[in-house]
Amino acid sequence: MKIIMLGAPGAGKGTQAKQIAEKYKIPHVSTGDIFRANIKNGTELGKEAKKYMDAGALVPDELTVRILLDRVAQEDCKNGYVLDGFPRTIPQAEVLDEELGKLNESIDHAINVDVPDEAIVKRMSGRRACPSCGATYHIVSIPPKKEGICDACGGELILRDDDKPETVQKRLDVYHEQTQPLEDFYREKGVLKNVNGTRSMEEIFEEIVSILGNTES
Ligand code: AP5
Ligand code: MG
Repeated sequence: MKIIMLGAPGAGKGTQAKQIAEKYKIPHVSTGDIFRANIKNGTELGKEAKKYMDAGALVPDELTVRILLDRVAQEDCKNGYVLDGFPRTIPQAEVLDEELGKLNESIDHAINVDVPDEAIVKRMSGRRACPSCGATYHIVSIPPKKEGICDACGGELILRDDDKPETVQKRLDVYHEQTQPLEDFYREKGVLKNVNGTRSMEEIFEEIVSILGNTES
């Protein structure tokens, strides 16, 4: 099963994608996480991506597409995957479509997690992330057991550079301009499913499972 998560920055794509990956036993592929891992490891790719990410801009399509296609060509993706944060522009979606077409494949579901901008701003300022294992928390709604420390691996939690308020607004503007048109792109293909993302994480996941069905792969 090949799934795409759509939605604004902070809509909860990552939170839901992790659960989908676990339930359906498919890899969770997040371009944002790949970039952050490269930044952490000081790679050339990381240095390049950081310039754009810190400014709340998108990393250029060419670079992003290459990274994503490399990742989904790996063995663990052969039964499907859940893409989180990709595609984010029409050209990215077109390349993905074209590459899948060559294999006689296509995207099965594009899940759009819908959250209004005001709620997004609140969420992002409270998000804390673990740079070691990728777990995310929220200081009010999903606090870690011990303040500032990751429950899963004991790492020190951080506020992502791009979660600073001025950058969040910029990311929202970029989202409306460049990413939201993907809703029409996937609607026309008949695979778009809208999910109200303002409810609890459990309720949202339940609805997603009702869309995807209860069986693996
Ligand atoms: P990326 O990492 O993808 O960031 P994003 O889309 O901005 O999304 P986030 O990770 O911020 O939000 P999310 O929807 O995953 O929400 P989460 O589950 O964490 O990309 C970062 C940057 O990399 C981009 O800005 C760009 O520069 C670059 N990039 C990445 N992919 C690219 C591409 N394809 N092309 C070009 N550039 C690219 O949840 C958010 C918070 O809310 C958390 O604290 C969470 O705990 C909480 N929360 C989640 N669900 C709920 C709920 N139901 N109720 C209450 N709180 C909730
Ligand atoms: Mg995310």
